[in-house]
Amino acid sequence: MALPLKNMPQTDKAKIPSHIAIIMDGNGRWAKARGFPRVVGHKKGAEILRHTMEACKDAGVHYLTIYAFSAENWKRPVVEVSDLMELLRSFLDREISSLHEKGVKLRVIGDLNKIAPDIRKQIEAAEKLTENNTGFNLIVALSYGARQEIIQTMQTLAKRIESGEISASNIDETTISDLLYTSAIPDPDLLIRTGGEQRLSNFLLWQSAYTELYFTPVLWPDFTAVHLQEAIAEYANRERRYGTTSG
Ligand code: IPE
Ligand code: IPE
Ligand code: MG
Repeated sequence: MALPLKNMPQTDKAKIPSHIAIIMDGNGRWAKARGFPRVVGHKKGAEILRHTMEACKDAGVHYLTIYAFSAENWKRPVVEVSDLMELLRSFLDREISSLHEKGVKLRVIGDLNKIAPDIRKQIEAAEKLTENNTGFNLIVALSYGARQEIIQTMQTLAKRIESGEISASNIDETTISDLLYTSAIPDPDLLIRTGGEQRLSNFLLWQSAYTELYFTPVLWPDFTAVHLQEAIAEYANRERRYGTTSG
C-alpha cells in the first residue's frame, strides 16, 4: 500500500542512493487486467517514466538507469517488438528537447547494432546534444544483456592481450569496469524491480555485485513517486556491509 506523501518517513539525505536502476516490469499484465492489448501497458509505462525521473531528481538521486528492452525481448512476437520500437521512436521525438532543457544527460547502453538505423541516429543525436549536461543522468538500457556486455568486454580484452597492449596478470576490476557499456557510470546503489518477479533477467550482472535489491509487486504503469520514496526509505534503513562486520 502506498503511503500518502505527508506520512512518508523522512529519509536521511546522506542515505539517498546516488544511482537507482529500475527493471520496469509488468506492463503486459497491467494492460491485460484492463482488457487492453499489451501495447497500451507499454504506452502507459513510457508516460510515467517522466514522473519517475522527476521524483528521482527531487529526492537527490543523480543517476537513473532504466531497463527498457532486454537482449532477450527480441524473442517476443514481431508485432510487440515493432510496437515497442515505435514507442521508442516517439519517446525520443517527444522528450529529447525537454530532457535537454532540464539539463539531463542521456546515455543509451546495449547492442545498438540491432536497432533500426533511424532510431540509432536519433539516439546518437540525443546523446550528442545532452553530453555536457550535468543536471541529472538518465541511462537507458536498450537491447541490453549483461552477459552479452561481458562477452564483448572479454573479446576486447583478449584482443588487447593478443596484441601485447596489456598482460593478463594486469587485469583488475577497473580494467573490466572501464570496458563495460557503463564505463564512467558508478555502480547502482539500489535496484528496483516492479511487477513481482524476483530476478535480474540479465540486467547489470557485474555492476550490481553490491547493489541493494528491492522487489515490489506494483506493476510498472502503477508505479508512482510515493512508491519510489518507499523504496528509498527502505534503502536508507539497510546496512551495506560489503563483506565486513557491522558497525
Ligand atoms: C516490461 O513489461 C516491459 C518490457 C519488457 C519491454 P512486460 O512487457 O514484461 O510486462 P509483463 O511482465 O508481461 O506484465
Ligand atoms: C525484463 O523483463 C526486461 C525489461 C523490463 C526490459 P522481462 O519481462 O523481459 O523479464 P522476464 O522474461 O520475466 O525474466
Ligand atoms: Mg515482464
